[in-house]
Amino acid sequence: MCPLETAVSPNTLNYNFIKQMKVIIRPDSASASVWTARYIAKRINEKAAVSSKPFVIGLCTGSTPIETYAELIRMVKAGEVSFKNVISFNMDEYVGLPESHPESYHSFMHKYLFDHIDEPAENIHILNGNAPDPEKECADYEKAIVEAGGFDLFLGGIGEDGHIAFNEPFSSLESRTRVVTLTQDTREVNSRFFDNDFNKVPKQAMSVGVATVLSAKEVIIMAYGSKKARAIRDAVEGPMSHYCTVSALQAHPAGFIVCDENAVGELKVNSYRYFKAVEAAENL
Ligand code: GLP
Repeated sequence: MCPLETAVSPNTLNYNFIKQMKVIIRPDSASASVWTARYIAKRINEKAAVSSKPFVIGLCTGSTPIETYAELIRMVKAGEVSFKNVISFNMDEYVGLPESHPESYHSFMHKYLFDHIDEPAENIHILNGNAPDPEKECADYEKAIVEAGGFDLFLGGIGEDGHIAFNEPFSSLESRTRVVTLTQDTREVNSRFFDNDFNKVPKQAMSVGVATVLSAKEVIIMAYGSKKARAIRDAVEGPMSHYCTVSALQAHPAGFIVCDENAVGELKVNSYRYFKAVEAAENL
């Protein structure tokens, strides 16, 4: 039996048994995404079985979560999970991009998830990148997360430099939701969504902070493809550093990094073998 199942007593959800970063390695992004979606659904169902409180989840955008969202949609349609008592907070949004722009994270989330599941509209939270008072918008977001009960689980991807949400290199590992200035690298990478025109990519974004993500009881970070391999090496084997903000996950008691084989291509052979052994021993 999965140790996650054995650790959950009928009346309480116990996260304390996870005490180290786990790296889940699957052959490809499709199987890694199915693992992730089923893990999330399992957690939603476990909480629903013991509590009427909503399940609070942090969500991300990018090409990485698309297959996970597709599997969650399938599971909702098949009656295997419901988002009726789920409250979500997205991790980031561009500043100054109209919500209706096809590349806004509002548009993305509706297209790839919210339009296909049963999460009530009032439970969906996405930062307003056009808020007249951005500082207030960010402070209110942090407040709303606390009022919702705090994150049960945060789902994220990473940038090629290891940024989590839009916490670019040199973001404080103690950071909270705020306006951030994007790096040239991130804008170049994201220009593929803006007609390959770097100048069309917004210069700023609103983003939850590293500490906001780490405030979750569990964090799952997905990384697929060899272009993420350097960031995964730095996050897993490097020192915890503001230069690779996902490395802060090392200090979290329940952090998962879910990868395909290509994304772990830069790990040392011994690290790879160790994480595979943990997976096998704990039947993850
Ligand atoms: C942007 C987002 C991140 C995301 C990253 C990677 O920078 N702010 O949250 O993780 O893109 O995107 P992709 O999944 O397309 O590689």
